[in-house]
Amino acid sequence: MGTQQNIGTETGYQSGFGNEFATEALPGALPKHRNSPQRVAYGLYAEQISGTAFTAPRSHNRRSWLYRIRPAAMHGPFEQIDNGRIVGNFAGPASPAPPPNQMRWGPLPIPDPVSDPATDFIDGWVTMAGNGSAESMSGCAVHLYAANRSMTNRYFYSADGELLIVPQQGRLEIATELGNIDLAPQEIAVIPRGIRFQVRLPDGAARGYICENFGALLRLPDLGPIGSNGLANPRDFLTPVASYEEREGEFTLVAKFCGKLWAAKTGHSPLDVVAWHGNYAPYKYDLRHFNAIGSISYDHPDPSIFLVLQSPSDTPGVDTLDFAIFPPRWLAGEDTFRPPWFHRNVASEFMGLVHGAYDAKAEGFVPGGASLHNCMSGHGPDAATFEKASCADTSKPSKVADTMAFMFETRQVLCPTVHALASPQLQSGYHDCWAGIRKNFRPTP
Ligand SMILES: [Fe+2]
Repeated sequence: MGTQQNIGTETGYQSGFGNEFATEALPGALPKHRNSPQRVAYGLYAEQISGTAFTAPRSHNRRSWLYRIRPAAMHGPFEQIDNGRIVGNFAGPASPAPPPNQMRWGPLPIPDPVSDPATDFIDGWVTMAGNGSAESMSGCAVHLYAANRSMTNRYFYSADGELLIVPQQGRLEIATELGNIDLAPQEIAVIPRGIRFQVRLPDGAARGYICENFGALLRLPDLGPIGSNGLANPRDFLTPVASYEEREGEFTLVAKFCGKLWAAKTGHSPLDVVAWHGNYAPYKYDLRHFNAIGSISYDHPDPSIFLVLQSPSDTPGVDTLDFAIFPPRWLAGEDTFRPPWFHRNVASEFMGLVHGAYDAKAEGFVPGGASLHNCMSGHGPDAATFEKASCADTSKPSKVADTMAFMFETRQVLCPTVHALASPQLQSGYHDCWAGIRKNFRPTP
């Protein structure tokens, strides 16, 4: 166990998306008008972390300056560890061929507190699907987590990508180098590539989803004719204020690098940043603040209207990764089939449900569960939903209430992992939800 002199638990936030933030936990710790003075206040070390190429256009350039008790370089050599559940290669010869089937999974069980009492946030990860690769810095991995213990003496970072964390059950206290984030279901957090953190579980058990984005940093989408407001508004994104811990003892730093986990010994907490400034920082967002936009005449728009964050690719208009949500909203389309329509897309869709029910599926898709509809796999409302919505009164608006579903949508096919295909939570009869759709066709008017 480590000697605990100061555990950073303070929380406070700065508002805005990708702003140039400046924050200090001790007065005067942040150098003024320069980044790297000859001597930093309080005997701190200055260190830059860059999240984009140095020469990236200013509008996309992300970096932060950290003023810390010890430099990030101070730790022992890394040795590979393997939890057998994290996958980094999705299309190699040893990977299973991705089936074109519609797939759906029940929720990952929370580890048993008696037989499996020591599953922390990192132990509790399992990779479900992915595409591209961390090495090529393109594509993403979709993981689930289910944990029952706080990380105590170990810390983590992913060099592979930024982590979009979507809790479904249980709050998370995410202590990061740049400050502390309290996260509850129906909120999301994004931890940038390389930022070190520790996850504590105030509710004892926690479950959720993680999308690890190997590509360009997530950003807010352009709004086009919607105008200057709407969807996820920038001021609702919250970045923590500086908070440090001065903690010495025997700790482990776990790195995710090229799809594998590596562990190094360290004699101090890496969460020792006393002050920082810059625009490369973790943030959180409450999905209930999303300003949902939809039709007030007929039909409903493409689901791109529900886009929260996007990772653009090199092809204009085609994203490596889209994070979209299906929040509570009014449906007003007259003479319109109001639930999501039947469709096949070039994009691939991994969906999860944080809360309530999803309006295209009457049953089977439950909170904590997941579905995967890959490129050109037909899907849409189940038979019961179709029957109900086809007869519904559309002369008045109706509300989709008490729900929060989301989608990780990708340009490349999402290849399910061996674990996902062999999982006891995989619902073998999923395709039967469309089996009861009746033939209504009559060739005579
Ligand atoms: Fe879909």
